[in-house]
Amino acid sequence: MAIRLGDEAPDFTAETTEGTINFHEWMGNSWAVLFSHPKDFTPVCTTELGEVARLKPEFDKRNVKVIGLSVDPLSDHKAWAGDIAETQGQALNFPLIADSDRNISQLYDMIHPNADNTLTVRSVFVIGSDKKVKLTITYPASTGRNFNEILRVIDSLQLTADFSVATPVNWNYGDNVIIVPAISDDEAKTKFPGGWETVKPYLRIVPQPTP
Ligand code: BEZ
Repeated sequence: MAIRLGDEAPDFTAETTEGTINFHEWMGNSWAVLFSHPKDFTPVCTTELGEVARLKPEFDKRNVKVIGLSVDPLSDHKAWAGDIAETQGQALNFPLIADSDRNISQLYDMIHPNADNTLTVRSVFVIGSDKKVKLTITYPASTGRNFNEILRVIDSLQLTADFSVATPVNWNYGDNVIIVPAISDDEAKTKFPGGWETVKPYLRIVPQPTP
C-alpha cells in the first residue's frame, strides 16, 4: 500500500552494510532519509551514493540519519562500496540495506511494476523524529536525484516544526518565510516579537528564524 504524508513510517529489521538494523531503534530521536536505488554496479546509483556520503556532514548538522536500499545482496553492496570509493573519491559512511527478499521494498511501495517488475525505483522518504513521513519523492531509474534539494526541503520541514513558518516558492535558506495560516495574529505577536509584513491577512512575511 502506498505510504502517505503523515503516516507512521513502517518499522522493519534489515541486514545492512553496517550490520542488522531495527529502523525505528536506529533512528532514535533523529530524523531519517530512507532512499532506494535500482541496482548495484550501475552508473547513476554509483554517483548518487558517493554524493550522499559527501553530504553526510550536512545531514548530521540537521540531526538526520541517511540509509540507502536496493534489492541486491550484502556481498554485492560490500564489493560495490570499493568501486564507489574509487570512482567518487568518497567512501560510503552510512548503511545500505540489502533487501534481497524485497520485504522492505514492498512495505514502502518502492517497486513500481509498470516501470520495472523487480527493481526498486528511486524513492525518497524523509521521516521526522516523531517517525511520521514528512516527504515522499519518486524518481525514475534514469534520473539521478538532487540531494541538495532534499536538504533544502529538510530545512523547510524543520523550520515548520520548530517555528510555525512555511517557505515560499523557490525559497532558499536565509530567505524570508511565511507565518503558517494556523497561527493567529495574537499568537504571532508572541512568536515573532520583531513583527511581520502583512501583504494580505493570509500572507504574512517574516525574516527566517535561525534554528
Ligand atoms: C543507474 O543507476 O545508472 C541505472 C540503474 C537502472 C536503470 C538505469 C540506470
